[in-house]
Amino acid sequence: MSQKITAAITAVGGYVPEDRLTNFDLEKMVDTNDEWIRSRTGISERRILKGDGLATSDMVVPAVRQLCEKRGIDPSEIDAMIVGTVTPDMMFPSTANLACHKLGATNAWGFDLLAACSGFLYSLTTGAALIESGRYKKVVVVGADKMSSIINYNDRATCIIFGDGAGAVLLEPSTDGNGIQDSILRSDGSGGNYLNMKAGGSLKPASYETVAANEHYAYQEGQTVFKFAVKGMADVSAELLDRNQLTGADIAWLVPHQANKRIIDATADRMGLSHDKVMLNIQRYGNTTAATIPLCLWDYEKDMKKGDNIVLAAFGGGFTWGATLVKWAY
Ligand code: UT7
Repeated sequence: MSQKITAAITAVGGYVPEDRLTNFDLEKMVDTNDEWIRSRTGISERRILKGDGLATSDMVVPAVRQLCEKRGIDPSEIDAMIVGTVTPDMMFPSTANLACHKLGATNAWGFDLLAACSGFLYSLTTGAALIESGRYKKVVVVGADKMSSIINYNDRATCIIFGDGAGAVLLEPSTDGNGIQDSILRSDGSGGNYLNMKAGGSLKPASYETVAANEHYAYQEGQTVFKFAVKGMADVSAELLDRNQLTGADIAWLVPHQANKRIIDATADRMGLSHDKVMLNIQRYGNTTAATIPLCLWDYEKDMKKGDNIVLAAFGGGFTWGATLVKWAY
């Protein structure tokens, strides 16, 4: 009888730009203050990708290159790449295609996956299925966003939240039981009114009018999204534990999407997890949309141990949300 193949995470890479945008910088740009931002969101600063001609793929490339170096493989060994993003370099070709070209990942096929802040979890579940099928041996899953390209820096409701970054994991087949164990993913398009970017798609192609109306920027009705996020992320995480007969005591780490520290705390409380088991870097990077979860794994890589039960959880635009259970493989 053949052994069950699971998709193990065998390396992590990350990239954040050098330039920092602090709360004090934002105080000079909009009517806000450091105290409000820190107490309402947990954020102190974000990274911003500056420079002409630089796009999301330029953050994907160093993150994936680092992952290849850590694992000792050449990019040409990658079979497939999935990039979760809402800020692709262009509408098409895909950022995955462009990044593979820049990396020399000449044997990979790939695509972008759009699920906003849940983009990494959706991509991870999809990438794991490619490995579990037995057809692919090295699948790279990326979460990357240059949020500064769609943020209105005159809108204090959004500009204090978002930052730029990219994180990536390598998935490889494993037969020792470690890797992606289970995932619950959800979506509800009726949430589209509360978190969106209205123009630039087929509904409202970019025009002078859409630009004048600021419809090429991210729009968020914060309070509404907040309420759905607290419930969605906590419910699905609790359901994932139940379904796998686990309690908070069995979980080594919660890796939550970094949208708001108050949402993260509520999710941890609902799972019965002490806060020292929760990965947190929102204070340094803000909300990097699809990149938050892999950037947490990148920052905390040395703190995880083989066999650790880790829950990844996200909520975001769509609405999309979900939770994934991973047994750490190294
Ligand atoms: O990643 C995708 C999913 N996104 C999320 O999960 C984000 C969910 N939402 C949030 O994190 C929060 O709703 C925000 C951080 C966006 C806003 O926090 P809030 O506690 O919901 O604030 P609020 O919109 O209820 O505003 C509270 C007060 C208002 O003043 P009044 O009416 O009480 O006088 C706002 O006008 O704070 C004011 N305010 C601000 N003050 C200083 C709103 N934005 C700011 C600001 N600086 N940037």
